[in-house]
Amino acid sequence: MAYLRWRRFLELTSLDHPWVGEMFMRRRNENPAAPDAETWDKAYKEGVYQRLLRSEQRHHHRLLAGLVTEHCARPRILEIGCGEGAFYDAVRPFSPARYLGADFSPQSIDMANARLAGDLSPGKVDFVVGDGRAFVTDEQFDAIVFPECIEYLGDPDELFAHYARNLAPGGLFGVTQWLGLKPLRTWRAIKASTDIVDEAVVNTPWGGAWQVWTCRRRGA
Ligand SMILES: C[S@@+](CC[C@H](N)C(=O)[O-])C[C@H]1O[C@@H](n2cnc3c(N)ncnc32)[C@H](O)[C@@H]1O
Repeated sequence: MAYLRWRRFLELTSLDHPWVGEMFMRRRNENPAAPDAETWDKAYKEGVYQRLLRSEQRHHHRLLAGLVTEHCARPRILEIGCGEGAFYDAVRPFSPARYLGADFSPQSIDMANARLAGDLSPGKVDFVVGDGRAFVTDEQFDAIVFPECIEYLGDPDELFAHYARNLAPGGLFGVTQWLGLKPLRTWRAIKASTDIVDEAVVNTPWGGAWQVWTCRRRGA
């Protein structure tokens, strides 16, 4: 706990003093790993990500759901890297007009479909297998969200450019990510090339923290 609090202090300081983060970052020249779908499948099978469904782990989802629905009531939402559907739990009370979740781990999609079987409705609420780096659909969405997965999806500029065609006029991108020194680099890169609509840090009493933000591509 003391270590986590020390890390939090460093990370919060790094939000507006990047040099602090760069100074204390371990393996600063290594890029974050992007495990393949088989690795995620195995972890889901072993129940490693069951913890993501715990209430204490989902405040960032709740905040993102609130930010998106304040902007657009009953939104059409595309979620990339949806896993077992933890973000869907947060957005369900707002009765989204459309929810499509995609993840490249078939195991996670099987688990989402089993866990949320009562909510599934083809064309209204769907969980599908798809690689978030290149997922293609003709549908339009009011929000396209990337909770806790953006670091696995390649260059954020290219990612947002890819999904721009699916964003309805005035639509938003939404991101949550674990507050960490390396993820802060991703946040800075995105911040440099988008207009941030809202941003916050969600802190928990047990020491966990996430960044949450909504944004639009500059000029969109
Ligand atoms: C830390 S989990 C987060 C799951 C969920 N978004 C949540 O907030 O609970 C990261 C998820 O990203 C997914 N993922 C990683 N790379 C992906 C890719 N290239 N395309 C789609 N999903 C991907 C993983 O399968 C995993 O479900």
